[in-house]
Amino acid sequence: MSEVEKLNQVNSSLKKKFKDKKLVFGSGFIGAKIVFVGEAPGKDEETDGKPFTSHRQKLLNQLLKTAGINKNKVYFTNVLKYSPTLKIPTSKEIRSYVPFLKEELKTINPLIVVTLGNMALNGIGLRQPLDNVHGKTFNFGSYELLPTFHPDHAIKDPLVKNQLQTDFVKLKKLLESKEG
Ligand code: URA
Repeated sequence: MSEVEKLNQVNSSLKKKFKDKKLVFGSGFIGAKIVFVGEAPGKDEETDGKPFTSHRQKLLNQLLKTAGINKNKVYFTNVLKYSPTLKIPTSKEIRSYVPFLKEELKTINPLIVVTLGNMALNGIGLRQPLDNVHGKTFNFGSYELLPTFHPDHAIKDPLVKNQLQTDFVKLKKLLESKEG
């Protein structure tokens, strides 16, 4: 089965399990060596039908360009696959989406997974304060995990934006070292 077929299968199981939700699936280059994992789509993403669009996409593209990473060779997804505008998702609800994220990651099989924000970091399974671990590398078996901040946090705080940029440069170096 091809990667596209496997992803379609993951997305079909998501649709079956979360019938009542307007789901936003991962999107990007299927052969990506870097996968970015966010928290949950916002309203813009729900409308556009893919993760990280509009002003967030603009910031991420700018960060990628400055670090020298090709934006067309990466993949974006979220832990939660719907926009939880009216209530904060419970940890039980977050956990119910994690097996699908893991299947998605297994299918793309990247060298590096970058979590954006705390919820994504915890969803992937690293329960440490983001301030202590951002920009560091953790071996997760088939991939290296590099946690960093959420773009929305960077949009509100220029210091966080600087840290995010520094982490993206580390990401580029990590990619180069993994590609050999
Ligand atoms: N925030 C996220 O974490 N993901 C998105 O796709 C949009 C906003």
